[in-house]
Formats: sequence, C-alpha cells, structure tokens
Amino acid sequence: KRPVGAPDKALARTVTKVGIVGAGLMASQFALLFVRKLQVPVLITDLDQSRVDKGLAYINDEIGTLEAKGRLDGDTANRLRALVRGTTDKSEYADCDFVIEAVFEEVGVKQQVFGEIEQIIAEDAILATNTSSLSVEEIGAKLANPERLVGFHFFNPVAVMPLIEIVKTADTSDAALSTAFVVARALGKNAVLTADAPGFVVNRLLAKVMGEAARAIYEGTPLLTVEKAFQPLGLPMTPFQLIDLVGWKVAAHVQDTMATAFPARFYASENFHRLAELTEVVEKDRAGRVTGWSKGAEKVLKGAVGS
Ligand code: 3HC
Repeated sequence: KRPVGAPDKALARTVTKVGIVGAGLMASQFALLFVRKLQVPVLITDLDQSRVDKGLAYINDEIGTLEAKGRLDGDTANRLRALVRGTTDKSEYADCDFVIEAVFEEVGVKQQVFGEIEQIIAEDAILATNTSSLSVEEIGAKLANPERLVGFHFFNPVAVMPLIEIVKTADTSDAALSTAFVVARALGKNAVLTADAPGFVVNRLLAKVMGEAARAIYEGTPLLTVEKAFQPLGLPMTPFQLIDLVGWKVAAHVQDTMATAFPARFYASENFHRLAELTEVVEKDRAGRVTGWSKGAEKVLKGAVGS
C-alpha cells in the first residue's frame, strides 16, 4: 500500500550510492543504517580527516558489536566495512544518487553545503536534509534545482526509532519525494509526509512537552515529581531523559526555533543546560537510591529555579 501522500514508486530514482555530509554521531549512525539496509557504497565527508576518522571508527566499532552479538556474520561485516568510505574530498559525491546532510543546524551552513554539492552531483540526483526544525524550503532557496530537495528527518537512536518524517516543500518534485519514500522503506522505517512547518510534527509535540516540563521545574516543582507525573503516559523516556538523549544543545535549538516561530505557543529553552546537568545528577542518584534528591541535584535545582 502506498503511504499517504507518496507518489508512484515507479518515479523513484534507483539508489546505487549514498552520500552523507558530515561524520559526526548523527551522520555516522546514518552511514551505518544505510550500509546495513541498502548494502550499497556509502560515502561520508567532513571538514578534516580527524573528524572523518572518528566517524569511520564509530561505524567500524558498531559493525564489530553487531558481529559480536551474532547479528552479522564475519563476511557480511567485512563487506559492509568495505562499502563505507570516508574522505574530505567532496568531489567523490559525483556518482551518488542520494545525498543527505547532517551538518550544523544553521540555514546558511546547509545552503552552502548543498550549493557546493549541487555543482558535483548528477542533474537528477536527490538531495535530502535531516534538519530537525528549520524550513526545508529556505535550506533549498539557493539551489539551482530546488525540486530535488526533500526533508528526511530521523530520530535518535537512528538504528532503533521506527519513524522518518519526509518533508515536502512547494518545489519538491515527485521523483525526489518518491525516492525518499522508497529509501525510507528500504531502511526499514515508517515514513510520514509532513508539511514544511517549524518542527514538522514530532518536534512540535516534543517541544511542547519539554517546554512545559521545564517550566514546571522553574516554577518550583521538583524534577522527580515532574518525572513521576509522566509515568501514567507510559512513555519510554521522560522529557529530561530525552533532552539527555538528543543532547541539550540540539534540544534547546529545536525549542528556540519553535519559540521564535510561535512565541505565543512555545517557551524558549531558557535553562535546558541546567536541566541536562540536573538530569545527569538524578540519573547518578537513581543508581544508588530510589528516591530523594542528592546534594548535587538540590544545588543545581536551586540554580535552575533561581534564575
Ligand atoms: N543507539 C543504538 N541503539 C540503541 C541505543 C542507542 N543510543 N539505545 C538503545 N539501543 C538499542 C539497543 O541496542 C536494543 O537493540 P537490540 O534489541 O537490537 O539489542 C534496543 O535499542 C532496545 O534497547 P534497550 O532494551 O536497552 O532499551 P529500552 O527498551 O530502554 O529502549 C529506547 C531504548 C529505544 C531508546 C527507548 O528508551 C525509547 O524509545 N526512547 C524514546 C526515544 C525517542 O523518543 N527518541 C526521539 C528523540 S527526538 C529526536 O531525535 C528528534 C531530533 O530532531 C531532536
């Protein structure tokens, strides 16, 4: 059955090589997923060789872990390792059919990256952005061919979370959209089509929850009480564990993007970094004791409430 909003899959471009821009943790997780599921050459690049090497080391280690767990046999593990290549030379994107970026969350940076890559890749190759809340249309505004750009938003941890938000702009072609749906399916993910609106759907919901949870603490309710209040919802993680998982800087960026776009509806991130600090203290405390504040948590909490 065709996913809602997906064009005919016959329009999809066959993907024989994947390019990933960036070699950070998110990009490396993409590379691992793409090589495992598509079993085609995957290229990662970054600004310098040490970043590239770090990304490659992560991918090699993760393949090793899968092998140790018996999820991959030795031959397959070696084949996958050989399919992943890392370089600082962007000209190697030339024969990629599908290039996804996972670089810094700033429109100008993403525009510049795509501007360079568009000069290198085939005229009909597809570009995808993993932006978590920026406007996909704006990211593509400087492209000669903005029809080829589609939003392709993964969730942490990439290997496990079953959803991808596919984002269509007014320009996105049916070929780009169809390729995105076919690739998402090949990656074993459920894809949903969302409008190009701040936070798409998932981060819009999460920013609401995180913003309100943080607010409750700033207003004086202890963090553990706020956490307990989430239990009846049966969610796998509390808002504070989620902030830790995605990293407070990323969480704060999403939060502030939403607050800027809809100031009447969303709180800004304010002291998310303090919450992250606080969560860490509570996590440590949990390991030893079931309830109560550690001295460290009390200290951080006072700071968070006081400012
Ligand atoms: N990386 C890779 N794999 C991981 C992982 C990680 N960080 N954490 C857990 N896993 C894997 C485990 O290896 C295990 O795989 P296996 O069954 O094949 O061995 C599987 O996930 C389940 O792990 P566990 O049994 O240890 O852990 P849990 O049952 O506690 O589940 C969880 C862990 C899946 C992370 C679960 O807590 C969860 O679903 N949390 C919510 C995550 C979420 O909401 N993410 C969205 C964040 S928002 C976002 O990313 C948007 C961005 O734009 C900011």
